[in-house]
Amino acid sequence: MKTLLTLAIETSCDETSCAVVKDGREVLSNIISSQIEIHRRFGGVVPEIASRKHIESINNIIQESLDAAGVQFSDIDLIGVTRGPGLVGALLVGISAAKALAYGLDIPIVGVNHIEGHICANYIEHKELEPPFTCLVVSGGHSYLLEAKGYNDYELVGRTRDDAAGEAFDKVARSLGLPYPGGPFIDKLALEGNSEAIEFPRIFLENKSYDFSFSGLKTSVLNYINNMEQKKEEIVIADVAASFQQAVLDVLVEKTFRLARERGSDKIVLAGGVASNSGLRSMMKRRGLKENIAIYYPNSILCTDNAAMIGSAAYFNYISGIESNLDFKVMPNLGLEY
Ligand code: KG4
Ligand code: ZN
Repeated sequence: MKTLLTLAIETSCDETSCAVVKDGREVLSNIISSQIEIHRRFGGVVPEIASRKHIESINNIIQESLDAAGVQFSDIDLIGVTRGPGLVGALLVGISAAKALAYGLDIPIVGVNHIEGHICANYIEHKELEPPFTCLVVSGGHSYLLEAKGYNDYELVGRTRDDAAGEAFDKVARSLGLPYPGGPFIDKLALEGNSEAIEFPRIFLENKSYDFSFSGLKTSVLNYINNMEQKKEEIVIADVAASFQQAVLDVLVEKTFRLARERGSDKIVLAGGVASNSGLRSMMKRRGLKENIAIYYPNSILCTDNAAMIGSAAYFNYISGIESNLDFKVMPNLGLEY
């Protein structure tokens, strides 16, 4: 089959990203322009500012991605773009640019589910990886446990009922006075702290449920901090970080392995920003060795938001016959359930 070059655009949150991906697995360029420094002083992403910044940089980022890949518009066969979930104004910037390119170049376009993009980041990192596998998607906006039965065939088995895993990391980090986004700071601090210092709850929900809930844990950490402050006792931030992180990881790891065992799966795939957590990676690997299950995760750049993963998802959709019309709509609340 002829090789297929995808130009992909991702603007769902605070990263303006554009990539050129060959045959869904080979990244020729992956330019990521992060707005984090701008949003940091507000303690989180400000949607209006995010949209404006995307508009300012999108054209340059597209050109940069072509230059870095050493290709021109005329070499591109397919456009991929995140259609949701995400911030509506931010998504619209990427979608408008993508539609204009598809129309002007007269090539097909695929509107991609951002969560599927996170999963597909693994196809880039692990050239030999193929479905089926058990997959844990944990990011700032989503926590899903699923069975990937094919390249675009997912059985959703569990999801968060309140906060996403990354959101819990960010909120706890904020209460500890750490910068936004707090996940990577908690990760680092946890390495120096004692994970058994404070007994935070593990929320497993009903027997056999594969859903998650992190808001009770978050509240429990906030209560601990308030109590300590009232009693004027010293808070050892590293211990809070390590104990909180361990409470999250215990639940994530236990439920993921339970599902893999139930389905007879020999592969567990991690995706999303929280998949770059060093504690999660090592705990998964240790347990995987014990239970003879292979663990896959992308490198950190591919874990957090980037356009290469969108290019991969667009490719695998396209070769299985999925294509979008030029009038497709933005879907800010899109989930993994189709
Ligand atoms: O996938 P992502 O870039 O954006 C969404 O689609 O939401 O994920 C960002 C999230 C943030 O909540 C961030 O704190 C978290 O991923 N994160 C981490 C780590 N690196 C990023 N959480 C824990 N440990 C990390 N090392
Ligand atoms: Zn994401």
